[in-house]
Amino acid sequence: MKIKKIGVLGAGTMGAGIAQVSIEAGYNVVLIDVVPEVVEKAVKGLNKVWGKGVEKGKLTAEAVANYNTLLTSSTDINDFKDVDIVIEAIVENIEVKKKVHKQLSEICKDDTILASNTSALSITEIAAATNSPGKVLGMHFFNPVPLMKLVEVIPGVVTTDDVVQTVMELSKNIGKDPVKAKESPGFIVNRILVPYINEAANVYQEGIATVEEIDKAMKLGAGMPMGPLALADMIGIDIALAVCEFFYNEFGDSKYRPSLAFKQKVRAGHLGRKTGKGFYDYSN
Ligand code: NAI
Repeated sequence: MKIKKIGVLGAGTMGAGIAQVSIEAGYNVVLIDVVPEVVEKAVKGLNKVWGKGVEKGKLTAEAVANYNTLLTSSTDINDFKDVDIVIEAIVENIEVKKKVHKQLSEICKDDTILASNTSALSITEIAAATNSPGKVLGMHFFNPVPLMKLVEVIPGVVTTDDVVQTVMELSKNIGKDPVKAKESPGFIVNRILVPYINEAANVYQEGIATVEEIDKAMKLGAGMPMGPLALADMIGIDIALAVCEFFYNEFGDSKYRPSLAFKQKVRAGHLGRKTGKGFYDYSN
């Protein structure tokens, strides 16, 4: 299967990044969001990044002009009718994703691959809602997309090998280093990372050490580039809590029980960087 034209659904944090790396690799991209302002902001954001590249002498004005010819933006999902793959990066809600993928399977060509950037939801469940479950799979990027090399490629129960192979190759073509993972809550990275952050919150909750001491210990003692509680603030404590709750429900194992510290921070509205306060204070 040959990919020439990529559809990206959702022009938020992840969608804009996925569009950027795809365009920079020379693909035609159709970027769609339901909210017109989000599409506008994403296109402006991409041009701001590329403009900085020109200022620094890393990009030519011609290259940026070419990037813009590769990019089509829209709010109409019907504009995906001739793309070879849709990478969906909309809200992390199973019912919304099922509805949207069903719609995509009706709009797109028979052989268009439908990839979801879901962080943890079931690919098989999303696929079962469509007319063509064999061509649905997970393509999980990491934030910020232009910097993070990994893509987790997750086949659902009935995804064809051909589709998996095509997406592995596409991931490499857009500068990523893909890893295949079986479908399971959180796949590889979040399955390991989120319980680790949760345990750091438990250590804090039990008064074993301060926030600063915990982060310092993991940086200097375990070689982590960033402490777990600073990372929780970056991800968003509400998101970390939601993923923990999802694992706890899916596996029914007490080792995934969300930390009380997460719950208290969320109840107080201290969600991390995005609200100016989490484990750390960002108000200054
Ligand atoms: P975001 O909130 O920045 O962007 C989501 C966008 O989807 C919004 O602009 C919204 O208007 C749009 N949208 C919602 N419903 C839509 C629909 N029916 N049709 C078209 N557009 C629609 O969210 P973000 O952070 O980009 O996350 C998107 C997906 O990527 C989620 O599934 C999330 O779990 C996953 N993800 C997020 C990561 C992160 O660090 N933010 C990392 C890896 C995956």
